[in-house]
Amino acid sequence: MRKLIGPFSQILTLDKLPDKGALSDSQLEIVENGGVLTEDRKIVAVGDFEALKPKADSFEEIKEEAVLLPGFVDAHTHICFGGSRAKDYAMRVAGVPYLEIARAGGGIQSSVNKTREASLEELIDGVSLRANRHLAQGVTTTEVKSGYGLSLEHEVKMLRAIKEANETGKADLISTCLAAHTKPKDFDGDNEAYLDYVANEILPVVKEQGLSDRVDIFTEETAFTVAQSVKYLNQAKAMGFDITVHADQFTSGAGTMAAELGALSADHLENSGSEEINALANSDTVAVALPGASLGLGMVYTPGRKLLDAGACLAIASDWNPGSAPMGHLLMQAAVFGAAEKLSTAEVLAALTCRASKALKLDDRGVLATGKLADFQAYPCADYREILYHQGMMAPSKVWKNSELVKG
Ligand code: NIG
Ligand code: FE
Repeated sequence: MRKLIGPFSQILTLDKLPDKGALSDSQLEIVENGGVLTEDRKIVAVGDFEALKPKADSFEEIKEEAVLLPGFVDAHTHICFGGSRAKDYAMRVAGVPYLEIARAGGGIQSSVNKTREASLEELIDGVSLRANRHLAQGVTTTEVKSGYGLSLEHEVKMLRAIKEANETGKADLISTCLAAHTKPKDFDGDNEAYLDYVANEILPVVKEQGLSDRVDIFTEETAFTVAQSVKYLNQAKAMGFDITVHADQFTSGAGTMAAELGALSADHLENSGSEEINALANSDTVAVALPGASLGLGMVYTPGRKLLDAGACLAIASDWNPGSAPMGHLLMQAAVFGAAEKLSTAEVLAALTCRASKALKLDDRGVLATGKLADFQAYPCADYREILYHQGMMAPSKVWKNSELVKG
């Protein structure tokens, strides 16, 4: 059964764009009075609505003006967690340093304690709630990290919760093992010993049980050094995992490492310098900006303009987590970041769709084209420039996942 959805005032396909470097809005492919023909979960054709009519067996009529975009792909979140860090946040915005907050019982370790206390069911409910909120805002694919368990039992519990939420919910959830987030307080040994424990005891179970294909690490002075990270990431690669890195958030260096190791993405990059920017631009590693963390921590943005001008592939993700990025509103963050970094609408929209898909090695989505998944979202306007102009306050009126209307 072929279903024709439309007509739309404009369809932005995000197709046929270069996968790296700066973009201008004139490069956007826009279909006026367009329709999307779908069959099962996929797109059969995108084109003029009237011309597609004879090919359809059924119709889903759009009665209002609307602009259609691919569903957003959020390539970096930590939406599986227990508890809240509102007290940390209040202290931090009032100027209390991060380390002092950690000493007062806050920081990542406090989310670890709450996540360890949470049952599998409570974690599933939390992930599902947040993934569904994201879906209603047009995010049809969301990456979700573990990293608040930090022991075999609790990392596996987190990854099971993500898997279960993926199986029961409408959005696609892509899990990543972030057991190398930080060394937990109760681990008896140094950083190297902890990473050996993760590589030898946790990753084999993650692999055997099919809980994730992706491994992440927080490379930072306060977490793991570049040398420690290189050893661990090479072990993960040898086990068949794709790798990604929390890089250059406070101090630089890890962006270059990520590019050299062939990571799928290097995320954060707020403090990347010209060396890291050039290394990323000359690699296939996607540079993922996380403006939600800059907003949450009151710190500089990732140098998005410089990365694009150097030729990098830039994606934008929410980093939604209970500590540094509690907002979780991807479109709002992308619009604000784009204004601050002087990005074109094409650059922002590509960073949320086709370029974000690349960070997750998913080539079946992120553009509206024949053969791709029928994941898309309609905004109540007639001109695509309205979307970022409203800075996140214009939500999609309709969202489709695998051709099924899931909102609207
Ligand atoms: O991506 N930078 C490290 N990890 C997370 C923060 C986690 C937390 O504070 O709970 C991030 O910002
Ligand atoms: Fe993160």
